[in-house]
Amino acid sequence: MNLRPATSADLTLLRHWDEQPHVVASDPNDDWGWEIELDRNPEWREQLIAEIDSRPIGFIQIIDPALEESNYWGDVETNLRAIDIWIGEETDLGKGYGTKMMQLALFRCFTDPLVTAVLVDPLASNTRAHRFYERLGFQFVEQRRFGNDDCFVYRLNRADWHHENTIH
Ligand SMILES: CC(C)(COP(=O)(O)OP(=O)(O)OC[C@H]1O[C@@H](n2cnc3c(N)ncnc32)[C@H](O)[C@@H]1OP(=O)(O)O)[C@@H](O)C(=O)NCCC(=O)NCCS
Repeated sequence: MNLRPATSADLTLLRHWDEQPHVVASDPNDDWGWEIELDRNPEWREQLIAEIDSRPIGFIQIIDPALEESNYWGDVETNLRAIDIWIGEETDLGKGYGTKMMQLALFRCFTDPLVTAVLVDPLASNTRAHRFYERLGFQFVEQRRFGNDDCFVYRLNRADWHHENTIH
């Protein structure tokens, strides 16, 4: 598996994935504005496509929440990263791909020696995602409302990162 930057050539694919019920269920209230965002490369963000043998299977976004321009995370410390992730096709769920994607994304985040921790914000109702993050070493921080979404915030501190699991 590898992660590569998403581009405007991925527009149709990302829109297709956005319509899949398991993707809608995990993120019902967000419009990702792909048409505009895929052509932008702000310094506080990476939008990445995971591929297996050149087949795109999922999407990962990594942001610096202190610099992100909509101020989604509010008043948040510097030197963090926040991740969004989904697998595109339902048939690709539960095969270990998401774990591998997160391992690669976490490696990317912690390669910057300044980064102290990584945040995720699954819906409070997404109990399978909670288990997924907990297995990667994330710890529950708080329940928090983001816009219309009732979320659980999880945090992985650098010291709790199982980097020995990352196989390239
Ligand atoms: C969460 C997700 C990225 C995990 O990737 P994956 O390849 O399915 O997961 P893996 O095979 O590596 O690990 C299996 C675990 O993933 C989680 N998982 C599997 N299917 C899931 C689904 N439809 N929704 C949420 N989590 C799921 C579960 O924790 C599962 O463990 P379990 O079988 O013990 O419940 C993927 O399931 C997904 O894209 N889900 C829908 C979108 C989503 O919930 N994204 C996270 C939002 S914060």
